[in-house]
Amino acid sequence: MAKTYQKEKINPARFLDCGSGTGLLGGAVRKLWPDAHITGIDFADDMLDQSVTDGCADDIVLFDLMKADWPVEDESFDLVGAASVINYAADPHQFISNMADATRKGGHVMLSYLTGQKNTQSETDDGTMSYLWSGQEIKDCFAECEIELISSRDTQTYTGRGLHRIDSIIIGFKGHMGLPKRPNKKAP
Ligand SMILES: C[S@@+](CC[C@H](N)C(=O)[O-])C[C@H]1O[C@@H](n2cnc3c(N)ncnc32)[C@H](O)[C@@H]1O
Repeated sequence: MAKTYQKEKINPARFLDCGSGTGLLGGAVRKLWPDAHITGIDFADDMLDQSVTDGCADDIVLFDLMKADWPVEDESFDLVGAASVINYAADPHQFISNMADATRKGGHVMLSYLTGQKNTQSETDDGTMSYLWSGQEIKDCFAECEIELISSRDTQTYTGRGLHRIDSIIIGFKGHMGLPKRPNKKAP
């Protein structure tokens, strides 16, 4: 996912890592852009602490991202990313809308997620609900939040027992009047 940022010629000074966990994504972002300021937000305090110890986050925020109002300033990040987190959101529109609010005009929103049939949900042993979202559902959320789609790609992995797992990465641009709509090439 971090390499995709680079491919899209995104160069964030301030990165918000939503559902940052131990900072796998933050660490990759750190390698690509050592000067970027990384804020991790997650509801698992032990994971957040680990991300700081490992140098994968500069700031951390302990928060349940499925709540409506996120405790981050509007339009304060160049890039807002969430790797494998929207699969825990019962309401992807609310989640993406909060990501969009945190993104500055001219900034980018990026998600990676496990794709599946429309609105498939399952419960793990500890009672956590997870949801599969189709690419179209996520694209619709981008459109509703006025995030322009600039890239979307799927990776298919053979998992055995005849199953295929499809992971998707989607990047959008929060446009603003009077300036170029996107930093590089044409829309897919
Ligand atoms: C599959 S892990 C991905 C972690 C990290 N983004 C990565 O790519 O390594 C999902 C993360 O989402 C966090 N998460 C799940 N539900 C959350 C919620 N309601 N609020 C905040 N964080 C949540 C978990 O604590 C976990 O760190």
